[in-house]
Amino acid sequence: MKLCIVKESRKGENRVALSPQVCAQLIKAGHEISVEKGAGYASNFSDEMYVASGCTLADKKTVLQTAQVLVKVNAPDADEIQALPESAATISYLYATLNPELVEQLTARKLSAFSMDAIPRISRAQNMDALSSQANLAGYKAVILGANHLGKIFPLLMTAAGTVSPARVLVYGAGVAGLQAIATAKRLGAIVECTDVRPETKEQVESLGGKFIEVKGVEAAKVEGGYAKEVSADYLQKQKEAVDKSLFQADLVITTALVMGRKAPLLITAEQVSKMKLGAVIVDMAVEQGGNCELSVKEQVVQQHGVTLVGVSNLPSTLPQNASELYAKNIQNLLNHLATKDGFKFELEEDITKGTLITHQGTKRI
Ligand code: NAI
Repeated sequence: MKLCIVKESRKGENRVALSPQVCAQLIKAGHEISVEKGAGYASNFSDEMYVASGCTLADKKTVLQTAQVLVKVNAPDADEIQALPESAATISYLYATLNPELVEQLTARKLSAFSMDAIPRISRAQNMDALSSQANLAGYKAVILGANHLGKIFPLLMTAAGTVSPARVLVYGAGVAGLQAIATAKRLGAIVECTDVRPETKEQVESLGGKFIEVKGVEAAKVEGGYAKEVSADYLQKQKEAVDKSLFQADLVITTALVMGRKAPLLITAEQVSKMKLGAVIVDMAVEQGGNCELSVKEQVVQQHGVTLVGVSNLPSTLPQNASELYAKNIQNLLNHLATKDGFKFELEEDITKGTLITHQGTKRI
């Protein structure tokens, strides 16, 4: 197939959909790849690296006009959708339920659009799961960002000048990002605690050296397709009571709690922030979905009640080289599953195709 990659047009996006290494493997498998000049530059992949992998370089217009498959990180924009040949395919994040207009545009152009955020959470799709690969890196970066804004170190330090006590880190949500945040904070020497609505995460938190804060006397969250469902107001109140002591002692708080297809749950109110330690830091990883903390502001670092709130929405883009390498591998695994070198199989009832193919032959499939 004739694959193409372009420079991402989303503001602040440094990632690129395919790395030169993955391009070389796809070309070896029989595909052709054309690359917009400079597409990988922000991820530290030069044009020369793509050429050495066997790709062809061209300007954006030519790349799009000759594409059979446009591979991107973020959803194609209106101009890109218009420039593609009718009946071409696209693979990218789409967040289709949140973007009905985008789905209309893709349908009108009869494009077959696969969505990377809709990979089913089944074990055979794990190596295609871009949400996981990117969340893993984001969890690491959240700790590093938090540490940078903190006026103290993480580990216990015994020196001739006295003993420095370890930092206390509290993580909300023990999913992919949260578990990586726990592991990273632990490696740096912090005391780490965590809360999650899924009780089965207790063991995972403890295996990384963290302490799991249990919420007793109320039904925990149900899980559907790997995602936590919304919990009751009663649960949120009991969770608040159980976690408050740790919250008010914490130096760094990392919030990662998400509920699929909904606004992120509000877990830290302004009043709770006002009771936190002076100089504490909150990194709100859910800021793009409305935030887990009432006071965090998207794309800003703000101070309230002496607490620093960090609201960076696209953390994977701050580690573009690794993020692009892993995303490219996810794409390669998905392509190997969905297609041969001659084209897509379009097995419409197969689980992974069914989950990810959002528009096809002028029809919406969600
Ligand atoms: P996510 O990004 O949807 O949510 C993050 C975490 O927030 C989850 O652990 C969730 O339980 C938690 N959460 C939701 N509401 C909360 C609240 N009120 N308070 C505290 N925590 C709350 O989840 P993520 O990280 O994408 O994955 C969750 C799990 O799904 C993974 O741990 C894994 O077990 C499974 N998974 C399976 C995959 C596969 O089999 N292919 C791929 C990816 C994930």
